[in-house]
Amino acid sequence: MSIEDKIIVALDLESCEKALSLVERLGGHANFFKIGLGLIGKGGLELASEIKTRGYKVFLDLKLFDISNTVENAVSGLCDANFDFLTVQGDPHVIEAAVKGRSSSSTKILAVTFLTSLDRGDLDQNLIKPGEIQSLTDKRAEKAILAGADGVIASPKELQLIRKNPVCAKKIVVTPGIRPRNSSIDDQKRVATPSEALRLGASHIVVGRPICQAEDPLVAYKEIEKEISPD
Ligand code: C5P
Repeated sequence: MSIEDKIIVALDLESCEKALSLVERLGGHANFFKIGLGLIGKGGLELASEIKTRGYKVFLDLKLFDISNTVENAVSGLCDANFDFLTVQGDPHVIEAAVKGRSSSSTKILAVTFLTSLDRGDLDQNLIKPGEIQSLTDKRAEKAILAGADGVIASPKELQLIRKNPVCAKKIVVTPGIRPRNSSIDDQKRVATPSEALRLGASHIVVGRPICQAEDPLVAYKEIEKEISPD
């Protein structure tokens, strides 16, 4: 896989116009863009199709969660455009329904384990059973793959465990919570640098604010590219 395909730029901007300008600014360097909930009410789906039509890879990060019938219908409609990745919550019934809805589309269904912005205190608030977040994430990833997911989203801190798990070893593992050295952690809690995350076994890294909010996003992108390029 090329380096450009390993770095997914999260287009977390206030408007689709700004997001498209960023795609154009990074054009010729970045190749994979993520559109999430922040843009969905502002034309994000049309933007996703536009970016796909321009030849880039697109990750639709909607983290779907509902009863099976609704998930199946939602995924069926979303997969017509053959986006590259689509996220759903990692509950087995959600994944089974998403895989059914995806039908013959080439879209990969990825399961969210636990958000990288959560720690054990947050899991307590959500009444998630006791246990270390790393091992719970690994178990959730395993259940998701067994239910039919093509891969999972996990933080860099869980990568080693997930890669050691024979059920998940060869699957897609996308890792947000990426912070180049000296950049602000913001609201993320379980973070690593781009090179650490790839060394620990991520197949792809997601980078949002360190690129989107950089003085020059292209310079920030190229620095990450340089950091992870083999010498
Ligand atoms: O700005 P930052 O690099 O923290 O952005 C991370 C991106 O990854 C955001 O778009 C966020 O929605 C997404 N994400 C995450 N944790 C997950 C799944 C997705 O941070 N578990």
